[in-house]
Amino acid sequence: MYEVYGIIGDPVSHSLSPIMHNLAFREKNIRAVYGAFRVSADQLAKAVEGIKALNIKGLSVTIPHKEKIIEYLDEIDEIAYEIGAVNTVLNKEGILKGYNTDWIGVIKAFEVNGVELRDKKIVVIGAGGASKAVIYALIKSKAKKIHVYNRTFEKAKILEEKFKIIAKPWEELKNAEGDIIIQTTSVGLKSWETPVEEEIISRFKVAMDIVYLPLKTKFLSIAERYGKIIDGLQMLLYQGVEQFKLWTGIEPPVELMKKALYEEAK
Ligand code: ATR
Repeated sequence: MYEVYGIIGDPVSHSLSPIMHNLAFREKNIRAVYGAFRVSADQLAKAVEGIKALNIKGLSVTIPHKEKIIEYLDEIDEIAYEIGAVNTVLNKEGILKGYNTDWIGVIKAFEVNGVELRDKKIVVIGAGGASKAVIYALIKSKAKKIHVYNRTFEKAKILEEKFKIIAKPWEELKNAEGDIIIQTTSVGLKSWETPVEEEIISRFKVAMDIVYLPLKTKFLSIAERYGKIIDGLQMLLYQGVEQFKLWTGIEPPVELMKKALYEEAK
């Protein structure tokens, strides 16, 4: 019998999660398959019921469900609750528990690239679900100062209160400066746009984008001229590695998964 895993989100057709997880299942001789389920925001409650009915063993959760799904799950892991976003669901004998592995993905992505976060001044662009996990990772890594710029200022303000960081109005982005800049908005996904202009990007030594389609976004193409860049596949890979461990208790073949992801994203 094959067990079923998958990703829920909207859109999901561009997701590379099926590539890495199906490869890992195969390599580790686990009889399981991983699919992509497009679930619109108004169908989320039904979809979660469906997971139980169909006995789907585990899920990745992406845009736009990471925050909303919390209310439909039976249990929430402490860290996921603190972050306020779930990107992983484990079905344990009918009990659905939500976890967050995105923040570990962020920490690992910086670590493998040899970039220290401790004591750094970091600018985060965006205040959505992904941004929360990024900020949590930065706090855990003891970053010195975290400034969050968001188009909708109120959302940055909520994060300011939640995480004790500093919210900045979008209009002040032109004055942003620091050591590291992290792009967490959806701007640049499947389009040649950047939410941050070159003059600003040029002030940073390290830039990370969580968008991985295209692999080298406009934001990263500019940043590359001024310093080190970390693309969105790194976070995807390492959050996926942690997911796989939660679901199976087995260490996945990280290097093979990485190779497959870069091959596919080329
Ligand atoms: P995710 O789970 O990927 O973080 P999200 O919660 O929908 O997705 O958040 C999307 C982020 O991209 C938000 O910070 C959003 O800004 P708003 O809070 O103002 O909506 C940001 N974003 C999306 N389109 C944008 C645009 N055209 N310009 C600037 N920011 C944008």
